[in-house]
Amino acid sequence: MTGGAGYVGSVSAEALLAAGHETVVLDDLTTGHRGAVPPGATLHVGTYTNRDALARLLEVERVEAILHCAARSLVGESIVDPARYYNENVAGGVALLDAARAAGVQRVVFSSTAAVYGVPDTTPIPEDAPLRPINPYGESKRAFESALGWYGRAYGLRSVSLRYFNVAGASAASGEAHDPETHLIPNVLAAAEGRRELTVFGDDYATPDGTCIRDYIHVSDLADAHIRAIDATAADDPRTAEPLVCNLGSGGGFSVREIIAAAESTVGRTIPFEIGPRRVGDPPVLVASSARAAEVLGWRSERPSLDQMVGSAWAWRQSHPDGYPD
Ligand code: UFG
Repeated sequence: MTGGAGYVGSVSAEALLAAGHETVVLDDLTTGHRGAVPPGATLHVGTYTNRDALARLLEVERVEAILHCAARSLVGESIVDPARYYNENVAGGVALLDAARAAGVQRVVFSSTAAVYGVPDTTPIPEDAPLRPINPYGESKRAFESALGWYGRAYGLRSVSLRYFNVAGASAASGEAHDPETHLIPNVLAAAEGRRELTVFGDDYATPDGTCIRDYIHVSDLADAHIRAIDATAADDPRTAEPLVCNLGSGGGFSVREIIAAAESTVGRTIPFEIGPRRVGDPPVLVASSARAAEVLGWRSERPSLDQMVGSAWAWRQSHPDGYPD
């Protein structure tokens, strides 16, 4: 897998190992952490964007299926530096697909995103909603999904693209440690620890409490979906005769204020915040229809409550007060 030293990747690597899969991690450690790679996984430090080197690695490690979690993934950065997103997520992604072809690897599961939809017309969002990304990050993920489709038709590659909504929570060993951190839940918990000031980006949206609503999904539920998706790419599995795309959310939506309230009840104290202006590019409501993941992958969110997501994120921070050692 690529990106196995990152937040989603490390929890997925843990789950793959627990499910009995031999797990090889390729990560350049620019945003990931060596300490996040679970014991039992083999770490190769390097990039997936070098086709020949990756093809050799796939052959040496006798890789059967690729879980492609690595990517640049900051919306704001993508707007000021789109070259990075096209070079790594798109051109690098194509290098990965060509390496897979060269090495005869026919199975790919891809970490995609709700950002491919842009500002949706309807909610909950089905997979066949129009794809109108509003930033280069979302566009780069849409482009790679599309490459998967055409490579599938032409070269027989089997793929599942998983469109994550808002990933949250932690396993006991692995949690969220980004620098800079832009996501709501870690920022709320850092404010509870007195480590940073919290700003709510807008309270004048057309939502019941005026703050944005998002569909949060527990990172361990995501890891479970990855394993099911990998299974679905087996040769002759009818589910991936055509490239498969599935949303992954918990099917409910929580507002920014509800997240803060849940965090206050988890940590047992009031969390100070101020209301700031809207953040550019934030749709008011993003909620997934995850019906297809249920129907095709037999997947359901097992940890849909905010208590489980915020509680596990808080527990991980308590046990890792300074994040990962590296
Ligand atoms: N928010 C705050 N204060 C903060 C951080 C976030 O008010 O300090 C708000 C945001 O404005 C938004 C909500 O909390 O309304 C959630 O924001 P996040 O940054 O946690 O997540 P996003 O919904 O912006 O982004 C997520 C993924 C992206 C993906 C996007 C799809 O992190 O990778 O969903 O739209 F592109």
